Amino acid sequence: MTDSTADAVSAASRGAAEYRANPYPVYARLRESAPVCRLSPPHGVDTYLITRYDDAKAALTDPRISKDMYAAMDAYHTIFGDSSVALDDNMLFSDPPKHTRLRRIVNSAFSPRRIESLHPRIQQVTDELLERCPTDAPIDLLSSFAFPLPLVVICELIGIPEDEREEVQQWCATVARTGFSKADKEKLAQAEGTLRDYFAGLIVRKHKNASDDLLSDLIRTQDEQGALTDGELLSTLWVLLFAGHKTTAYLIGNAVFTLLNHRDQLEEILADPALLPNAIEEVLRFEGSVENGTFRHALEDITIRGTLIPKGSLVQIALSSANRDPEKFSCPDSFDVRRQGLQSTHLGFGSGPHYCLGAPLTRMEMRTALTTLFQKFPKIELASEASEAEWLKVPFPAFRGLERLPVKLVP
Ligand code: HEM
Repeated sequence: MTDSTADAVSAASRGAAEYRANPYPVYARLRESAPVCRLSPPHGVDTYLITRYDDAKAALTDPRISKDMYAAMDAYHTIFGDSSVALDDNMLFSDPPKHTRLRRIVNSAFSPRRIESLHPRIQQVTDELLERCPTDAPIDLLSSFAFPLPLVVICELIGIPEDEREEVQQWCATVARTGFSKADKEKLAQAEGTLRDYFAGLIVRKHKNASDDLLSDLIRTQDEQGALTDGELLSTLWVLLFAGHKTTAYLIGNAVFTLLNHRDQLEEILADPALLPNAIEEVLRFEGSVENGTFRHALEDITIRGTLIPKGSLVQIALSSANRDPEKFSCPDSFDVRRQGLQSTHLGFGSGPHYCLGAPLTRMEMRTALTTLFQKFPKIELASEASEAEWLKVPFPAFRGLERLPVKLVP
């Protein structure tokens, strides 16, 4: 690694504002001079960051790079502490055959028919939220629209009662935002304990009062052989809730921000709405909301591009970097809603066995949210300079998203 790349990585590792505003030049240097780069994250466990497309795609399916948290308990405890274990006993933290079993059960309750049936309700919530937004002063689109929409959708899908959603969202926010200091870990443990108790209570209530939501479906399948244990059920609710709302919220924000900064392409979409689905795929590539894949670790010594990743190290896969790799995408730093062949190539939803379970739901939510927003407010504009946008400031984070998105809703 050159000195200038090392400096850039060090700035990125401190979460420097300049890097967060535009992490892509750092990723470009890493792809060039340190495509498998050793990081020193604050939690202290050795971590290797993979930044090239081909390596990222291969690593996402490499059985030597595990997602089984029980096989890496020491590292797991160091990073997350005891309190996360019960919540993370789900498909996202397991390998086959356990992963295959858990995913199959949830998949069947997450059928295309159920997703399709959500559309009228997604449209209604979208309309109601936008109806409530004032048009005479700038608003923060993230807090008034982008966050509430997916939260309502995922809560309704799971079966979380309306008057309990606000509190559930607060606990999730605490879990998502905590760092690695002792005080942070205590806060994390408290929020996770509360969420655990909440889900356990919800499961008991649904046992007594089943309805047509996903949780009731999952409870019904518990009589079958190989079904979810109570612990797996609880932790599956958590992964759906957590994975299912922040990701989509940040993607709505990233999509609106990017399209407003490429007004000519937004006008093309308004003139020809058939372009929107591909535009959403391009947002997933160009400014996807999951910057890095989740917790993985090396089951044995692995060498990638001449760099040894010792057994037990963490492996982080920089999806946002892979999606800007010029070896895979021509002019990767240009946003182009007409780019071809995106759906099968970009890594915005990951790849391989852990490919996002919620991708069809997300695509539908994105289409509904963006179509309605831009039809209702075709002259919507940013209420502050694009260069002043406040991006999340965590170093090499899971999410890529804005802290807020001030806009003027002009009908
Ligand atoms: C913009 C929206 C979304 C994005 C960008 C996104 C992205 C991702 C990515 C990159 C992964 C793979 C992580 C890895 O391999 O480390 C993933 C997995 C997953 N996502 Fe999503 N996601 C989104 C929305 C959703 C929604 C709405 C749901 C649920 C309703 C969901 C549920 C899941 C689940 C359960 C997994 C784990 C799958 C497995 O381990 O087999 N996601 N997602």
